[in-house]
Amino acid sequence: MNTILEFLGSDHRVCDDLFASAEAAVAQKNWDSARELFGRFQAATTHHFAMEETVLFPAFETRTGMSAGPTQVMRMEHAQMRDLLQGMQQAVTAADQNQFLGLSETLNMLMQQHNLKEENMLYPMSDRVLGVDSDSVIREMEGVADTRPA
Ligand SMILES: [Fe+2]
Ligand SMILES: [Fe+2]
Repeated sequence: MNTILEFLGSDHRVCDDLFASAEAAVAQKNWDSARELFGRFQAATTHHFAMEETVLFPAFETRTGMSAGPTQVMRMEHAQMRDLLQGMQQAVTAADQNQFLGLSETLNMLMQQHNLKEENMLYPMSDRVLGVDSDSVIREMEGVADTRPA
């Protein structure tokens, strides 16, 4: 049986790898590649947030009755990260290396802390409270639309 921890934890790794590639391209001022890689990273992250916000968090909230708990903190952090992504999008479009790298450093710190909280707390808790229903929650997350180019 697949777990939510494995399913979403491995998606964190996918996002991390795209992030590192985009940042490396910006560091080399390889702007065509940076724009393409950043686009992929942004789409992957947006898709990951959508799986959490539209499927996992509501399922967790319904099962535990906790709507003002950890999921609310995670939603707030997603909003902060979306703001940073928007700033990075503008910086990569404008080929502004300093602006991009300043924002990406902040995003990296926030994202690593956020992912650790999910992987150490929220995902294992979700697997526990959802029990056998974890499988159907994972299948529902797999059905969330992905805008990434093939
Ligand atoms: Fe999250
Ligand atoms: Fe996550």
